[in-house]
Amino acid sequence: MTISGIKGMNDILPNEVQTWQLLERTARHIFETYGFSEIRVPVVEKTELFCRSIGETTDIVEKEMYTFTDKSGNSLSLRPEGTAPVMRSFIEHKLHALDPVNKLYYLGPMFRYERPQKGRYRQFHQIGAEVIGVDDPRIDAQVLIMLVHFFAAAGIDAVELQINSLGCPECRPGYRQILVAYLQSRLDALCEDCRRRYLVNPLRVLDCKVPGCREATAAAPSVLEHLCAGCNDHFASVRRYLDETTTPYVVNPRMVRGLDYYTKTTFEVVTNNLGAQNAVAAGGRYDGLIKSLGGPALSGIGFAAGLERLALLKNASPVAPPRPDLFIAALGEAAAHQAFLLMSSLLQRDLRVEIDYLGKSLKSQLRRADKLGARFVLILGEDELARNSAPLRDMQTATQEEIALTDLPRLLTERLQPGVPLA
Ligand code: HAM
Repeated sequence: MTISGIKGMNDILPNEVQTWQLLERTARHIFETYGFSEIRVPVVEKTELFCRSIGETTDIVEKEMYTFTDKSGNSLSLRPEGTAPVMRSFIEHKLHALDPVNKLYYLGPMFRYERPQKGRYRQFHQIGAEVIGVDDPRIDAQVLIMLVHFFAAAGIDAVELQINSLGCPECRPGYRQILVAYLQSRLDALCEDCRRRYLVNPLRVLDCKVPGCREATAAAPSVLEHLCAGCNDHFASVRRYLDETTTPYVVNPRMVRGLDYYTKTTFEVVTNNLGAQNAVAAGGRYDGLIKSLGGPALSGIGFAAGLERLALLKNASPVAPPRPDLFIAALGEAAAHQAFLLMSSLLQRDLRVEIDYLGKSLKSQLRRADKLGARFVLILGEDELARNSAPLRDMQTATQEEIALTDLPRLLTERLQPGVPLA
């Protein structure tokens, strides 16, 4: 009997991995250009870290964490997101003592026990970035500009940046009260889930996808009309910087986030091309999080993009796999032996070389060279070994010439350089 993988946890197969690597390379390049350094944190943390940061009443903590007790009796969880572990590490290693402004990025698997569907998985991957130590709205704008830059550089254009402000501990409680009162007057129209959570987490009701709830909250009071002066100014500045840098965005006052740590600016990059899972990237400011985890009173802002969703959007134009520079077709045992040694020495020079390992006929080896898209094919038999030279076929120009085997590394290196005319 065969053993299958776990539901909602995907293999990323060789024909998909090209797209992933391209997205990862693009992210690293763009983020490093904006001054971010990579940080790597474990995939398992103490459960308490996520309860205290993401929030006890959020879906993630209530229903979606992979939590287990280890052999010492500690409650541990697979990380459902990256912000909390990065903040834990930041505080633990006192990174603020080294630099008052820290720009960090990370990349890796996250785990949430959600109902799997297109774009929603139980193991998924995020590319995330966080800036710690700056509450100036210029940094909000810079993070958003970088995110838009990343999407453009990755060649993903059917997306929209939506922004909102969720206020701060000074103004949010007032808005919450107003919203609860509004929801109370429409309780009958709300779904069961919303009736249960409207007192604990009223903002989430605005995010409910049930049509009845959407209708009932269509005229709900907007958070943006209840911001305090500080939050209002902050949000206005962020928008001004985005306008002045011609960064495209729309304000969505109904956007709330599924994690409790957000304050002020929040945002999502959404698409219409992924069905129900429309958020490709999301994030926001979390000015109270680091202090609440026992660290210094530093503000933070960041985002994470879902790699599976990015890859689904990118798949419209798949990336070609790398082609061998040379395929050595060998005839007979001595030639097969020599082909292996030749290949080994060429690989040391960073040339991509393939041979046949299955004892196939010359015709079949040539077919394979063609299928792999090899740029050159060297045909090696007993005669060629004896005279120490062999025909090298250029598959691009369909020309062939006899070359000395000792010349092969130099010739290949020269001819594979872009712009060098072929013989
Ligand atoms: P989030 O909105 O929970 O935020 O997740 C960010 C992104 O991860 C989503 O927009 C989506 O692309 C992807 N994602 C989330 N869940 C799944 C899933 N089950 N399957 C596939 N993709 C998924 C956070 O995680 C915050 N830590 C973001 C952040 C960073 N805020 C500040 N800094």
